[in-house]
Amino acid sequence: MRVLTGEYRHVPVMLDEVLAELDPRPGEVVCDCTLGGAGHSVELARRVAPDGLSLGIDQDDMALTAASERLSREVPEASVRLLRGNFGDLDDLLVEAEVPGVDCFLFDLGVSSPQLDIPERGFSYHEDAPLDMRMNSGNHTLTAAEVVNTYNEADLTRILRVYGDERFASRIARRIVERRSKAPVETTLQLVEIVKEAIPAAARRHGGHPARKTFQALRIEVNHELDVLDRGLRAAVRWANPGGRICVISYHSLEDRIVKHVFSELSQGCTCPPDLPVCVCGHVPIVDVRTRRPLVASDEEVAANPRSRSALMRVAVKLDVTD
Ligand SMILES: C[S@@+](CC[C@H](N)C(=O)[O-])C[C@H]1O[C@@H](n2cnc3c(N)ncnc32)[C@H](O)[C@@H]1O
Repeated sequence: MRVLTGEYRHVPVMLDEVLAELDPRPGEVVCDCTLGGAGHSVELARRVAPDGLSLGIDQDDMALTAASERLSREVPEASVRLLRGNFGDLDDLLVEAEVPGVDCFLFDLGVSSPQLDIPERGFSYHEDAPLDMRMNSGNHTLTAAEVVNTYNEADLTRILRVYGDERFASRIARRIVERRSKAPVETTLQLVEIVKEAIPAAARRHGGHPARKTFQALRIEVNHELDVLDRGLRAAVRWANPGGRICVISYHSLEDRIVKHVFSELSQGCTCPPDLPVCVCGHVPIVDVRTRRPLVASDEEVAANPRSRSALMRVAVKLDVTD
């Protein structure tokens, strides 16, 4: 696999807003759970250096290599620890890092520009490549090709409908099953072709690339993106120090819904009926949600970086639950 170090190009999304909301201070511990090319992490590390600690997590070796090089070049004074793994396993990763607690957590979800741009990763519907889509491509985990060639029609339909919000889910699933009965579907452009054949011609003319939703759905399935987000967020809240800030940038409504749900659940106080003399539910708010509605990128940023158009940022602050 190609390893891009010097040429890892990913423009960090909503960087000013991330810094304003997380407000990292000298001496604090920051944890970037989606390190990527360290676009956010260089600035986080700069602000907590030299006495603070910057943790960076990514499941992608290419990102870790590029980020490590960039951080040591641009913020040599920072104390940095990079961890390979999935933020769904945040508990284990933070035990491994031997930190007692964290002051700022960042989740900038999804794939990075280099992951999309390298055809061999199989994320792009513009270039032909094996159907892979694993963010941790070094591991022997499920690939998009295995999903497409082995899931039954009902499961394919469900994935496309739920994870892709694809209105033609059942037509696409049926077409996939028909095609793979002749020969396995192995490449991205074969799948694009199948999607195009399955969707009515009129629908193909608007709403972006016809395979966009199918590719999103497969990527979520292959990387268990929604499950790990729920787990990772809850772990981040557990590990946050009192007053610790947690900032999440999502890029589609399914992710954003999970962030909203987890934050709202953990910000709930007592839910007992008001006429009960004492609380029996035991609910104590653990976080204060700072964003009732998600923050979005400015018009200037959207004009300069189209990727920021779909960004939705939510922020919560850990309460001092010992009070
Ligand atoms: C949008 S990019 C982050 C870009 C980064 N903020 C920057 O500005 O350079 C998302 C990164 O998170 C990683 N990632 C996504 N989901 C992950 C997960 N569950 N665990 C660990 N890393 C993950 C991807 O491999 C990718 O490198």
